[in-house]
Amino acid sequence: MTRETATGGVPFEIARHYPRQVELTDGSQAALELMGGGDIDDMLAFARTLPPHDLMFLRVNITDRPVVEHWVASIEMGRTITVLARQDGKVLGESTLLHNEANWTRHLGEIRIQISPAARRRGLARVLAREIDTIARQLGLQLLTARMTLDQSAAQAVFRRLGFQREAVLWDYAITPDGDTRNVLVATKRL
Ligand SMILES: CC(C)(COP(=O)(O)OP(=O)(O)OC[C@H]1O[C@@H](n2cnc3c(N)ncnc32)[C@H](O)[C@@H]1OP(=O)(O)O)[C@@H](O)C(=O)NCCC(=O)NCCS
Repeated sequence: MTRETATGGVPFEIARHYPRQVELTDGSQAALELMGGGDIDDMLAFARTLPPHDLMFLRVNITDRPVVEHWVASIEMGRTITVLARQDGKVLGESTLLHNEANWTRHLGEIRIQISPAARRRGLARVLAREIDTIARQLGLQLLTARMTLDQSAAQAVFRRLGFQREAVLWDYAITPDGDTRNVLVATKRL
């Protein structure tokens, strides 16, 4: 497979599939695009639509501009690929593949999905997860992982429907700002 790099750090054979329109389950259209340096303000606006509970269990605070700038830098370095879904120009959801070719986990990719509350239950997570699945295969990855807390039942339902299975539970692995611990589920899908 060629690894010719398009502008923005994403291999050309992946980048050429974007932007494009997809239909959601309510019949509306969404635009799928790859995130890049021009999307920082839109991503911050999207992050502010996410409820505190969803933000709390992200590894980084994506409402923070330097964090989003670092995210873009990681895309430009080829370590991260993010697919954005937009309607009327506004970001409604994102799905991210984190991977690292340089070490002993180079066959793994971690998937993360966030959908704005107003846009949920319209099939967007399923669409975005399918994109990441395809991208992971194009990169030659062998295993996709997803992490969520055991109380994120919607996320568990989504990933189960997408063919992920429960791999491990990391007991007390997450902690809330109030100091309460939560159990973290690791789900995996062999590609
Ligand atoms: C989990 C999340 C990504 C789902 O996004 P979504 O766009 O609403 O999901 P979809 O509409 O694609 O749902 C796909 C399927 O998952 C299941 N599902 C989705 N939300 C669900 C919920 N709240 N309860 C039960 N099942 C649910 C359903 O089977 C659904 O199919 P259906 O609507 O045809 O029945 C979204 O709720 C979210 O962003 N949550 C916060 C962040 C998070 O938990 N991310 C996952 C960990 S990385």
